[in-house]
Amino acid sequence: MTPTSRQYATRRRVLVTGGAGFIGSHLCERLLGEGCDVLCVDNFFTGTKDNIAHLVANPRFELQRHDVTFPLYVEVDEIYNLACPAAPIHYQFDPVQTTKTSVHGAINMLGLAKRVKARILQASTSEVYGDPEVHPQVEGYWGHVNPIGLRSCYDEGKRCAETLFFDYHRQHGLAIKVPRIFNTYGPRMHPNDGRVVSNFIVQALAGEPITLYGDGSQTRSFCYVDDLVEGLVRLMATGDAVTGPVNLGNPREFTILRLAELVIELTGSKSKLERRPLPSDDPKQRQPDIALARKTLGGWEPSTPLEEGLRRTIAYFRDGGARP
Ligand SMILES: NC(=O)c1ccc[n+]([C@@H]2O[C@H](COP(=O)([O-])OP(=O)(O)OC[C@H]3O[C@@H](n4cnc5c(N)ncnc54)[C@H](O)[C@@H]3O)[C@@H](O)[C@H]2O)c1
Repeated sequence: MTPTSRQYATRRRVLVTGGAGFIGSHLCERLLGEGCDVLCVDNFFTGTKDNIAHLVANPRFELQRHDVTFPLYVEVDEIYNLACPAAPIHYQFDPVQTTKTSVHGAINMLGLAKRVKARILQASTSEVYGDPEVHPQVEGYWGHVNPIGLRSCYDEGKRCAETLFFDYHRQHGLAIKVPRIFNTYGPRMHPNDGRVVSNFIVQALAGEPITLYGDGSQTRSFCYVDDLVEGLVRLMATGDAVTGPVNLGNPREFTILRLAELVIELTGSKSKLERRPLPSDDPKQRQPDIALARKTLGGWEPSTPLEEGLRRTIAYFRDGGARP
């Protein structure tokens, strides 16, 4: 029998699409730390070379500019498919491209996984639950999603990507992993993407009014990026029988108002709150049930307290981050 290139390889070769983004850059760092060969693929739509500049000198790190809506042929053992703009202002900028990134990107990466017999993980999202009628959200809940709204390019694109993953699994026996990621925050978040944590921190540091949509009573759960990356890596390491979907996020819920107050306190800012109307399709409540993750991922759960994670994120933005 001819040995496959996987048998010749001495280190795990891992492809991270969207590797120059916020979560992707932390994941690349973590995988290099584990001794993997890491190929970071990104079209730099929302990611930046600054996020991975500190990794470029590592001989086990490789960077390739590529758009996942086009096919890619590389020899790898594992694929983390993270490529996709994640913030509403970015994914609504070119909604057709957003759906293409999720759907064509999934098809291209699944095709690659099938060809090279790699295991593949899809960064799905809590947005597949839409504006949930079930609280907290369990993986068995099918969601409450508007198929024709402004957020649909993202939500439905991600839902379709999940469908493709499970069909490739059933039809072609692919080893798939589908985490549904809830709000994640930390250093290297984009400073101007309108996401609530970065928004509040940037406004507080600049002493500008903090924009609060609605009355601030809507809740979110915030997971620190290192905890999330730990969950992703543990999920990839599970046996082939574990496919997900599995929620990864922080079950501890905070109101947006509480987050704003905490950011003001930790930055020592004099910023005042400025109330604005809620945008359309904005979910009122979001909280993961992580019982399945705890059970299948060796007791995984977020361990970084919000105050600590916020401190590290504030320090990043205070230093000007890696971005101009
Ligand atoms: N951050 C969160 O709270 C969160 C929550 C749920 C799901 N996710 C998912 O996790 C993944 C990473 O999110 P993030 O917060 O790091 O966002 P991000 O915008 O920082 O990272 C996405 C990366 O994908 C790249 N990209 C976008 N379109 C591409 C394309 N067509 N081809 C190649 N690269 C492309 C971007 O340039 C960027 O580097 C996304 O798939 C997102 O949907 C994130």
